[in-house]
Amino acid sequence: TRVYVPRDAAARSVGADEVAERITAIGGVEVIRTGSRGMLWLEPMVEVETPEGRVGYGPVAPEDVDGLVAAGMLQGADIGAYLGLVEELPWMKRQQRLTFARVGVIDPLSAEDYTSSGGNAGLRQALSMTPAEVVETVVDSGLRGRGGAGFPTGIKWRTVLGATADLKFVCCNADEGDSGTFADRMLIEGDPFTLIEGMTIAAYAVGATEGYVYLRSEYPDAVATLKSAIEIAREQGWLGENILGSGLTFDLHVRVGAGAYICGEETSMLESLEGKRGEVRAKPPIPALEGLFGRPTVVNNVLSLATVPTILANGAEAYASYGTGRSLGTSVFQLGGNVARGGIVETAFGITLGELVNDFGGGTSSGRPVRAVQVGGPLGAYLPVEQFDLPMDYEAFAAAGAMVGHGGIVVFDETVDMAAMARFAFEFCAAESCGKCTPCRVGAVRGVETIDRIVAGDDRQKNLVLLDDLCELMTDGSLCAMGGLTPMPVRSAVRHFGKDFEE
Ligand code: NAI
Ligand code: SF4
Repeated sequence: TRVYVPRDAAARSVGADEVAERITAIGGVEVIRTGSRGMLWLEPMVEVETPEGRVGYGPVAPEDVDGLVAAGMLQGADIGAYLGLVEELPWMKRQQRLTFARVGVIDPLSAEDYTSSGGNAGLRQALSMTPAEVVETVVDSGLRGRGGAGFPTGIKWRTVLGATADLKFVCCNADEGDSGTFADRMLIEGDPFTLIEGMTIAAYAVGATEGYVYLRSEYPDAVATLKSAIEIAREQGWLGENILGSGLTFDLHVRVGAGAYICGEETSMLESLEGKRGEVRAKPPIPALEGLFGRPTVVNNVLSLATVPTILANGAEAYASYGTGRSLGTSVFQLGGNVARGGIVETAFGITLGELVNDFGGGTSSGRPVRAVQVGGPLGAYLPVEQFDLPMDYEAFAAAGAMVGHGGIVVFDETVDMAAMARFAFEFCAAESCGKCTPCRVGAVRGVETIDRIVAGDDRQKNLVLLDDLCELMTDGSLCAMGGLTPMPVRSAVRHFGKDFEE
């Protein structure tokens, strides 16, 4: 019998290692460690292979293992914690998993599992095309940067392909700093070869020979998994010289950040990769023309790169058939905060915010009514339930004064104090500002003081006007998105939850 237990950090944090050890100790079964399916409220989740498919049990505490096994868990019996066929669970069935197709399914470090589940089909297809054709396929797929800004990935690659230089780089931004986001981590821990394949395709498309993954030190499991995966990929001939016999040369290195939010901003990340202090560079020049060590550089988020293999393998049209308007394909949404069912939901763009929070998330974990959700990380807007019919779509969110960002959705119940949340946005900015420009460095501190005066009832109207002025100045005058977007949560809190700013 084959039994699957996640080795994902979220599952390990609630005892998955102990569960795997206890099942192994019973003997007679093959225990395979996988990534997580992303149903985090069910972790540690155990899956057992049956003739009908994999059936799940969860959550399974280490001390429950012996009892469950005695009752027939290893035979797939319908006993306590039984969930049924995992693929048939409503949470899984309603999703369209393209980027996350293998996460939670395969052993992330098995080259055999990767190949037998369609791994490297995208890379093989790319190698049969010209680099320009690969770039145009990514343009036609409609893929936009999943790190948050939503810039068309193929157009970015076109700029790098068109640049002439002695050396070009592909850099993956895995400094997933947004609160409430964890998709980059789960992809790397659950299916690292897909990221490696996506980066190799990018390298071929733009003519790069060297790549870096900038990973945050807060993700030790992802660092270890990716380093092992790179070793294995080299042994398999998927990295290094003459990749898959094609003559392509590309190698990959992991660099670990020390934990500054601003190092997720692409130019700070490049500074940090060069061994300097993580401080924002002025743009232009854009990294696509002058990036790492001044060379043309592709900088993409983990999810953007990990989506490229499926696009090449199945065609641009197949990918673009998902989604809505100019937001094509699928996105990996992450539900967190005060939510009953937190985790990963990969669906086509166009699903509404309410469907994600209520249908998938099941409302709050406290059982109280939802009052607000913050979408797109600490710099994203707070939205009230009145806006739950908003479709997940870059343009629809922008029109509502919000942003989809990296797809993180953090839920708050009716006890949340929105003036405190607005204050926190400024505090966060003050703590994480790189200090290079005045609107952000000084503005964030003045913002905290102004909100304190408003809440204390000290010249409330006058200070609300001042707050609005400050937000406008930070939006227009900041050098990067850190200072430029901090007003978004602040203004949305004032607009939708004005009552919280009264005495
Ligand atoms: P941006 O709009 O300045 O740039 C987007 C990307 O397009 C950059 O890589 C830029 O170099 C590239 N680009 C622009 N014009 C180009 C051209 N003509 N040719 C080739 N490439 C071009 O946005 P930025 O500052 O990179 O990102 C801001 C976003 O980051 C925010 O909207 C936020 O959602 C997100 N964010 C994500 C975080 C995370 O943890 N994933 C954390 C904080 C912010
Ligand atoms: Fe640095 Fe803030 Fe200016 Fe960005 S906006 S460059 S983080 S000081």
